[in-house]
Amino acid sequence: MSYRTLLITGATGGIARALLGQLQPGRDRAALVARDATTLAELAATLPAGLEAIAIDADTSTPEGADEAVQATSEHFGTAPDCLAHGVGSALLAPLHRTTDRQYRDCVAANQDSAFFTLRAWVRARLQADAPAGSAVLFSSVVAQIGISNHEAIAMAKGAIASLIPAAAATYSAQGLRINGIAPGLTRTGATEHLFAARNAEAQIAAQYPLQRYGEADDIARAANWLLSDAAAWVTGQVLSVDGGFSRVRPLVQRT
Ligand SMILES: NC(=O)c1ccc[n+]([C@@H]2O[C@H](COP(=O)([O-])OP(=O)(O)OC[C@H]3O[C@@H](n4cnc5c(N)ncnc54)[C@H](OP(=O)(O)O)[C@@H]3O)[C@@H](O)[C@H]2O)c1
Repeated sequence: MSYRTLLITGATGGIARALLGQLQPGRDRAALVARDATTLAELAATLPAGLEAIAIDADTSTPEGADEAVQATSEHFGTAPDCLAHGVGSALLAPLHRTTDRQYRDCVAANQDSAFFTLRAWVRARLQADAPAGSAVLFSSVVAQIGISNHEAIAMAKGAIASLIPAAAATYSAQGLRINGIAPGLTRTGATEHLFAARNAEAQIAAQYPLQRYGEADDIARAANWLLSDAAAWVTGQVLSVDGGFSRVRPLVQRT
């Protein structure tokens, strides 16, 4: 049987962990990439029994780190990964006039740069394979789709990812490479946990969503797993909103 080989970057993050939980030993094998080797090692110890995996500490916001992540995966498994889930990213809540140079640069590096360098490294590896076909999922954000105050830097970086996806999908569609993205709404993970700290925050956040709840990591991971799978074999160049309706629908207030 042939395995699905996944390169999962930002593997220690909430959404990537949820995706790992959906992998099937015997069908899937995974390379887990993040910068913190200790957290990666702890994560490796929690994987589903029998799931073949390696941990690679690399900084995918640099071309060298992204290349190393793909190369180490290919060397370990003897084949270039046919799936990429690029879960690296960050959140930044700051109005434009208070955003420091450092915050801006870090935001662009973690989101825009890492997406570009990682997708490029993955595509280069796939193009070397006898059968290049494969599937990649990147993460944009709802904040790149509609204006939400105090999100200028992250909206710009996630907007760049949303633009990269259809362009790259067009370039490599003839080789069978499918390249898609997900634009999550607010999803409860380590990256956003601080937003839930205030009293009543949980209920107030949930009430902003047409479906009356915020996202859970599994909501996003299920969509990513689908886009990576053959069930989405005729889908490419898309950025799928998984946001409880936030970016698209406005329920009318019911008068009784
Ligand atoms: N949660 C949300 O509400 C939400 C909403 C919209 C979009 N998204 C996007 O969805 C993706 C996953 O989100 P999440 O909530 O699961 O994030 P998360 O929990 O903060 O995880 C982010 C991961 O990226 C890694 N990382 C950060 N910078 C890195 C770098 N330069 N090189 C390599 N690894 C790096 C982090 O590990 P290390 O620091 O150890 O490297 C961590 O594993 C991100 O792109 C995020 O921006 C999330």
